[in-house]
Amino acid sequence: MADVIDGKQVAASVIDEVKAAASALETETALKTGLAVVIVGDDPASHTYVAAKSRMAKECGFNSIQHTLPAETTQEELASLVASLNADPKVNGILVQLPLPKHLNSDAIIQSILPEKDVDGLHVVNAGKLATGDLATGLISCTPAGAMLFVRRTHGEDLSGLNAVVIGRSNLFGKPMAQLLLNANATVTIAHSRTKDLPSVARNADILVAAVGRPEMVRADWVKPGATVIDVGINRIDAPERGEGKSRLVGDVAFAECAEVASVITPVPGGVGPMTIAMLMANTVIAAYRAAGKVAPKF
Ligand SMILES: NC(=O)c1ccc[n+]([C@@H]2O[C@H](COP(=O)([O-])OP(=O)(O)OC[C@H]3O[C@@H](n4cnc5c(N)ncnc54)[C@H](OP(=O)(O)O)[C@@H]3O)[C@@H](O)[C@H]2O)c1
Repeated sequence: MADVIDGKQVAASVIDEVKAAASALETETALKTGLAVVIVGDDPASHTYVAAKSRMAKECGFNSIQHTLPAETTQEELASLVASLNADPKVNGILVQLPLPKHLNSDAIIQSILPEKDVDGLHVVNAGKLATGDLATGLISCTPAGAMLFVRRTHGEDLSGLNAVVIGRSNLFGKPMAQLLLNANATVTIAHSRTKDLPSVARNADILVAAVGRPEMVRADWVKPGATVIDVGINRIDAPERGEGKSRLVGDVAFAECAEVASVITPVPGGVGPMTIAMLMANTVIAAYRAAGKVAPKF
């Protein structure tokens, strides 16, 4: 049976480091780390995420500002709010919760956030810095940063000689994850829906990362014995065994059978999921240190 990574515990240790860093910065410079979270419309899932982010920001000792805008907000109104947050020295990080209502152009909004305040790591400047190997001045997308922390805690900083396979090529996860692995000297393959014989590509991986959105797609015979398996997928499936109309969350990896073959594996829920919010807090305190002209902590 593989070692199962406890994402909640790792996330809690990151949050402890963030709290200590934010408090040290405040003691040294009297500057309080500030995170502004913007939500537009009434999507209940988005409101739950935003509430969790705002709550965690407060717990970290940040100045946590939430802007809740009505669904009929115009592009110009949202752009002008982002411009005012860009100009506000008390705000170190800006997060615009996605998806935005359909009449708004989210890419234009994301690209209007100052790259140094783009704590979601979605601005092309931050994507470009990661792609060119500049990990020192950019901000890295939170979920891949969290998944990479698991990889580093398992294999160390240098992945020389290891094969990594990332299934999924989204801008949000697959591409930045592959860049992080490459920066750490892994030999990286990015697989996707057009990949031929995916099981045999996956079997080549010492580090297998699945970010697809297909429940339990990765089976035991896709996993190289002794591999590290990181499951990013979050899929809600019917669970009639729990009662009528009930559902449960599963990842993109068939956990029970793959845990028999892998040496390290992440569960769903409780694996990569809790890391996203922790790395958002980490990015915010990093941005605050840089804004204060201080050397930022590493996570
Ligand atoms: N906080 C978190 O824990 C967190 C954060 C982000 C995402 N996620 C989860 O991670 C999963 C992926 O998210 P995402 O945003 O990256 O999704 P996405 O944008 O939908 O990308 C999915 C990727 O999977 C590939 N794919 C689809 N079907 C495939 C198949 N049958 N075989 C091989 N590849 C296939 C797609 O290939 P093509 O490009 O060829 O279409 C695409 O590159 C989702 O379950 C999401 O909920 C979790």
